[in-house]
Amino acid sequence: MKALILSGGHGTRLRPLTYSQQKQLIPVANKPVLFYAIEDAIEAGVHDIGIITGPNREQVIETVTSVDWDAEITFIHQGEPAGLAHAILVAEEFLNEDEFVMYLGDNILKDGITSHIEKFKKLNPDSLILLTQVEEPQRFGVAELDRNGKVKKLIEKPKVPPSNYALVGVYFFKPVILDACRNIKPSWRNELEITDAIQWLIENGYRVEASIVKGWWKDTGKPEDILEANRLVLDEIEYKNSGKIENSRIIGRVVVEDGSVIKNSIIKGPSIIGRDCRIINSYIGPYTSIGNECQVIETEIEDSVVMENSEVINAGRIVESLIGKNVKIRGKDTKPAGKRFIVGDNSDIIL
Ligand code: DAU
Repeated sequence: MKALILSGGHGTRLRPLTYSQQKQLIPVANKPVLFYAIEDAIEAGVHDIGIITGPNREQVIETVTSVDWDAEITFIHQGEPAGLAHAILVAEEFLNEDEFVMYLGDNILKDGITSHIEKFKKLNPDSLILLTQVEEPQRFGVAELDRNGKVKKLIEKPKVPPSNYALVGVYFFKPVILDACRNIKPSWRNELEITDAIQWLIENGYRVEASIVKGWWKDTGKPEDILEANRLVLDEIEYKNSGKIENSRIIGRVVVEDGSVIKNSIIKGPSIIGRDCRIINSYIGPYTSIGNECQVIETEIEDSVVMENSEVINAGRIVESLIGKNVKIRGKDTKPAGKRFIVGDNSDIIL
């Protein structure tokens, strides 16, 4: 069994962060979203992993190869994101007539994929899809099931959803899916849709089974999804301190990594402070991830993600925020008192 993990696409709904960063590399609890998919594949016993790359190919390769994985990793360049079924066609040589799991690199599942892989092996269908009930099915691919729970039809982002069962971004396939991908036409958004390819399997007499995801699942397509995924992952961290705590209170499940200094501050869990940070005269948490080499001084930050090498100094109280890499936010008490911004395209600021 192989894994095909998708790390291409433009990530337009996460701009401006995705102008400089591939969306699957955005950190959740200080770990790139993509790493959760790689770890799930390895945990489920898959050690032959293909990663689809797109516009920021070099960045993805550099980040993934910075870790010594217990897997052989092949990078497959898709270029322009022409759809999930297109990504499968691009990977044909890597897949080489083997069964595989396709995992969208911006998805996170609480319980991983081991139980679903077992189900795929046991039931032996042509495809096993993962479904979960959601509140806004129109944001996803949606499955129509018959009375026995069998998949009748799949529709991509329907205006009037036939059920509230969304397609989770993890799919198991036999090699026949390549025929399906070759036989479908681009959709209204000009993509070769994986939902259409699976629908082709159903219409041509192939067996498609469904497995229900019980633990939480998050597609991190939008800023609020990243914050929600950050909360869900932080909810499961354990206390660990390898930093230097001076005259400060650490409350609950907090991780402080090597080389970080916490001085005259309060950190409330669940929260994580990365390597070589300086947190001084500040309040952090709950549900906050501070990336490596950040400085937070004279500031309160709650329910937020701050990425590496950023400085937040004298900035008052910050909540529900997503702050990119190398950002500087500094309060000032000199005149004129007006606010001053140097903000990139598509930024979103609430004052
Ligand atoms: O997250 C689950 C949903 O993912 C499913 O419910 C939908 O049926 C499925 O179509 C997909 O919908 P999205 O609109 O969320 O797909 P998105 O365009 O965001 O692409 C999903 C991931 O795959 C994302 O990490 C980018 C990557 N990708 C996407 C395309 C279109 C590629 O690597 N190549 C591509 O060509």
